[in-house]
Amino acid sequence: MTTLSVRVHKIKQEASDIKSFELRSVSGDALPAFTPGSHIDVHLAEGLIRQYSLCNGPDDIHHYLIAVKRETESRGGSQAMHESIKEGDLIRISAPRNNFLLQQSNGPYLLLAGGIGVTPILAMARHLLAQGLPFELQYFTRSIAHTAFHEFLSGPEFQGRVKFHYALEPEGLRAYLRKLLWQYPQHGALYLCGPRVFMDLVESTAAATWPPEAVHLEYFNADPLALAGEQESFEVRLARTGGTYPVPAGVTIIEALAAHGIQVDTSCEQGVCGTCLTGVLEGTPDHRDVYLTDAEKKSCDKIMPCVSRAKSPLLVLDL
Ligand code: FES
Repeated sequence: MTTLSVRVHKIKQEASDIKSFELRSVSGDALPAFTPGSHIDVHLAEGLIRQYSLCNGPDDIHHYLIAVKRETESRGGSQAMHESIKEGDLIRISAPRNNFLLQQSNGPYLLLAGGIGVTPILAMARHLLAQGLPFELQYFTRSIAHTAFHEFLSGPEFQGRVKFHYALEPEGLRAYLRKLLWQYPQHGALYLCGPRVFMDLVESTAAATWPPEAVHLEYFNADPLALAGEQESFEVRLARTGGTYPVPAGVTIIEALAAHGIQVDTSCEQGVCGTCLTGVLEGTPDHRDVYLTDAEKKSCDKIMPCVSRAKSPLLVLDL
């Protein structure tokens, strides 16, 4: 995957545990264009690649703005971003990719953000504002101190369009969502991003009244229930390069192949980003990712080998 080098122009503390990073091209030229909902891969060290959503408006390609929450259970990414990256540093990033496309809608847009899930939602809000399209942003956080971009979203241009909610308990959140989503506005579109429990709650509440095609979401993490499922051993055969390799229980396809010197591009290793997408020519995958759609999972012709496994004794992969 090709990467480009960018300079960290500015770092700002956006909330008690969230920093934003403004990235500019080394030459000062424009960066590759992007659409709202896009993310970039940030290469932090060998084998340490993380995805962060772009939060600036897509019309401004003289910089990319990302925001990173410092996770207490960091696997290294957020810790490196918060502790090691300094203004003036050069870092390698990928060109933007979009797995969370803001689609054309003839009705109002309802944007829901939980915590750091505000990052892609912010790019969407900026875009809709610039286009003069009707939207409302509901933003849920623990407290004002945990609310990234609070000052910006409180500005006059967002007046009447942004509503902040602090420290809602699950019951209060459930009741509020029921009220908010009680009726489907004609041609409306719902976009949401945040922690899994938040998204599960929004999705299940919306399901009572909103058609599934009007609800769009982006996950940051794999589904822990799917990942915790049973693990049987199986074999993978590589159709193009040849060779059949065992994948024992507790070992991913990626790890099993790496043990034989076969590298597959990965990034999140959580079944979220799509980097490791691989074709399946024979066999039945046991999908554990949140990247493929339900229809793609049913067709059984693709797999995310960083997390998914096999229901059949053998998988033949297009590798
Ligand atoms: Fe991200 Fe597999 S590496 S989905």
